[in-house]
Amino acid sequence: MNISQIAEKGSPKSFLTLHEDPAVQEKGTLAPRAYFVPFAPTQRIGTPREKSERLELLNGEWEFEYFDSVIDLPDRFTEMPFTKCIPVPSNWQLHGFDKPQYTNVNYPIPFDPPFVPDDIPVGVYRRRYLNKSDGMSKILVFEGADSCLYLFVNGRFVGYTQVSHRMTEFDLTEHLREGENSIVCVVLKWCDGTYLEDQDKFRLSGIFRDVYMLSRPAGAVDNYRVCADMSGEITVEVTGASAVVELYDGDTLICGGKAEEGNAFTAKIDEPKLWSAECPYLYTLVLKTDDEVIYDRVGFRTVKIENGVFTVNGKKVKIFGVNRHDSYPDTGYYADEAKMRRDLELMKAHNINAVRTSHYPNAPRFYELCDEYGFYVIDEADIESHGCVNVYQNLRWDREGGTYNGIALTASDPMFREGILHRHRLLVKRDINRPCVVFWSLGNESGWGTNFREGAQLVKSLDSTRPVHYESTHCLDGTPDDVLDVVSEMYTSVEGMQEFLQKEGEKRPFILCEYSHAMGNSSGDMEDYMQMFMSDDRFIGGLVWEWCDHAFPVGEDENGVKYGYGGDFGELHDDGNFCCDGLVYPDRTPHTGLLEVKQVYRPVRVVKRGGEYYMQSKLHFVSAEERYELRANGEVIGFELPPEGECKVVLPDDISGDSIKFTLNDRRDGHEVCFDQFLLSEEDISPAKTSANVEDVIENGLTFEVRAGGARFVFDRRKAEFTVIERGGNILEKPMAFNFFRAPTDNDTMRGDWDRLYMRSPAVKVYETVLTREDGCAVIRAKTAYGRSIFAPFARVDAEYRIDGEGRLTITASLDADDEKLAVLPRFGLRLFLDKAYDTADYRGYGPTESYIDKHQACRYGDHSAKISQLYEPYLRPQENGSHWGTKRLKVSGGRNEIVITSAEGLSFSLSEYTQEEMASKRHRFELEKCGYSVLCADFAMAGVGSNSCGPLLMEKYRVPLKGGRWSMTIEVR
Ligand code: GAL
Ligand code: MG
Repeated sequence: MNISQIAEKGSPKSFLTLHEDPAVQEKGTLAPRAYFVPFAPTQRIGTPREKSERLELLNGEWEFEYFDSVIDLPDRFTEMPFTKCIPVPSNWQLHGFDKPQYTNVNYPIPFDPPFVPDDIPVGVYRRRYLNKSDGMSKILVFEGADSCLYLFVNGRFVGYTQVSHRMTEFDLTEHLREGENSIVCVVLKWCDGTYLEDQDKFRLSGIFRDVYMLSRPAGAVDNYRVCADMSGEITVEVTGASAVVELYDGDTLICGGKAEEGNAFTAKIDEPKLWSAECPYLYTLVLKTDDEVIYDRVGFRTVKIENGVFTVNGKKVKIFGVNRHDSYPDTGYYADEAKMRRDLELMKAHNINAVRTSHYPNAPRFYELCDEYGFYVIDEADIESHGCVNVYQNLRWDREGGTYNGIALTASDPMFREGILHRHRLLVKRDINRPCVVFWSLGNESGWGTNFREGAQLVKSLDSTRPVHYESTHCLDGTPDDVLDVVSEMYTSVEGMQEFLQKEGEKRPFILCEYSHAMGNSSGDMEDYMQMFMSDDRFIGGLVWEWCDHAFPVGEDENGVKYGYGGDFGELHDDGNFCCDGLVYPDRTPHTGLLEVKQVYRPVRVVKRGGEYYMQSKLHFVSAEERYELRANGEVIGFELPPEGECKVVLPDDISGDSIKFTLNDRRDGHEVCFDQFLLSEEDISPAKTSANVEDVIENGLTFEVRAGGARFVFDRRKAEFTVIERGGNILEKPMAFNFFRAPTDNDTMRGDWDRLYMRSPAVKVYETVLTREDGCAVIRAKTAYGRSIFAPFARVDAEYRIDGEGRLTITASLDADDEKLAVLPRFGLRLFLDKAYDTADYRGYGPTESYIDKHQACRYGDHSAKISQLYEPYLRPQENGSHWGTKRLKVSGGRNEIVITSAEGLSFSLSEYTQEEMASKRHRFELEKCGYSVLCADFAMAGVGSNSCGPLLMEKYRVPLKGGRWSMTIEVR
């Protein structure tokens, strides 16, 4: 519906015609410029921007009206009575208007560019603005509005902007009158830009970033550009006016001069202190004009790709990064400075050195903070048109068959040329002065074509000092992608990376812009990727997908906020919990995966060679001893470790214990940066030999009964399970059975196979059960198979149960599983339902947080103790959690007895108030019901977690061996 046809001629509504016109990306706006804030000449260097006398923050409660359809908007909406309020910045879906929708790839609207549905939800904002004319220009700045914004001042149309994550400026000088003014913004949920903004996230709308008015005097600069490199050379170009330039190191003036339009200021300083993520040294730039001063921070640094290797200041720096979205459970897309700082501080504390602003530019302040804290930033344009793959492909992806190339529908389409180029232009123009930005990224998952090729060339023409990144090179028309400076992939397997190095003719370096998909119980492959990154200089490193879980409150209960994800908001279509794939929970509580990341990304590692210990540094610019304190088993050890170097660790003579634990603490704030542990000796945990004999063995039709050392056992021959293990009372609330299933993790993409095989509740076939007496022990041997219908049994087990004279039960089992129907068997072990009084686990294994065969870098081997509630890891969507791999001894207590389980080879155990069936059947953690027992799983083997929700299949070495495995454990009830 063309609004101008239904609106009264000349009315405010009649201006709403630009959002279906891809040739118009903006109207009445100022030319894009680098982000900066002006100050009054009297204001001190370092004054925060909110304190600038030249900036008036307009955040706060604005008047608001919401319409389900733009068609319903009154013609003269600028004069309508406003009855509601909304905070600015915010997303209106989080304030009772409209609903959030979580969709990943699929577009939320029909694909019909440049048109969008007639019924576009609309938010109309009004703010009264008191104007005191002071001779200065009044510039209204929006740092972000989704998806587009029409601006009216005092009822008159001023301008239009789209591209949700851009900064837009309107010069209101001519539109404002003395005294009270009315600023009205019409924000539409969709516009033609929606086709280019199909990022995988909750779809929210509104003015979601800061809004402010700048006062700019005549004779102020319009824009400036700073270049400062590792040679110490600095260039400052200005436009619009001449300015006095001063460069300070702290309070000391280093150099200064004048910059004029077309005549840049240049200087060369001696021995500049360079900027890097490790040492984010910043100088202060001051630009003075007659009645204005601009402060900025400058980092001297050089980013290059030379001979296929990425370097920062000449060093082969690796990216150990994370992808970050703007997503907060309380404020949606809005991150205030405190929230940005919190994210960055958490990242820093977890050894992360890089951020990809997936998949749009973040708020401008974010980059200043990255300069300050020290992060390498891959700054990404506001582009994704992933939904194209599902438009004409019969809703089917087929990468090999080439139909996935449908992703590139917009990539060469002239209709989108301006939209794509403009987004590239806006990206570079705004952030060009930020030292933290080391790559320009052309966007995400939009395919490749002429629009992107031109975009890459535009980016290069605007800035030749940074390489250009883009991942999505699937193409419909053979446009060459040689303008890209790196080869970027996502979710490539470790072997796939190896193959990259063999590619003939390919000379560029390689980056994994997304890897180790951190969805649910994940991050199982971090160390394998790290080994690969370090194996070749052409590997730049990678960025974990992603920083945070996206979720919004849907209520509260005694455990706190109930988080909802896709499907919980009455969406037409959604992608479930695929948005809960971060390293931190929505409230920024770290997932165990973040701890894994921290340890794998550690800057210094200790290795053992020929009985000696050596420290190896991954730092490029600082000597490790300047920053860190080393302890070995708690004792401080002196060391000197130059950048990229290695040094021997001189241990004190009296160092003792079963293991040496090296810990590195940050000297500045004391936090533990990382550790390395080496086991020296291991106590023999096998049960002491006994001369005692089993007392009694009774074969009783369907049961075997054994009495030994004060304990009694009853074995049910029909099911080949123990029904009684007692010493003063049966500990088994249900028969102790073999267990193959686990509540699927988000990465258990093969869970469908498990269900087809009825793995949750298989029937047991017993071929034989035989009881003998051997060496004073009672020995039961059972041959069984597990399956339920349709197929051959998925597992066959030969088990031996040996009860000695002390009443200790040693179970030895071998497994023969169906390797045709099963790629991954979740687990193989025993499950015991205990009285819920058994609530404490003391164990020697990998803890204190959950550990798996492929996820235990962050865990220490040793003695740990935990309550059952502490062993639970509350993933938003319930799934396998809280297991402890490599456990050699476990004691479960709290009930009548103590249950001790030992295993020389180490087992995986979990102790939970929830059954795996319960966790597998509930969508949210807040729906979980306790089963009334303590469920003890003692697993001979437990599959790793991997990251297959988006990444490659679990590596072979982390799977439960389907054939040929033989394990044992001993259970003793005391
Ligand atoms: C990638 C995409 C990300 C995210 C991820 C899955 O393909 O670039 O935006 O959707 O998959 O979580
Ligand atoms: Mg996508």
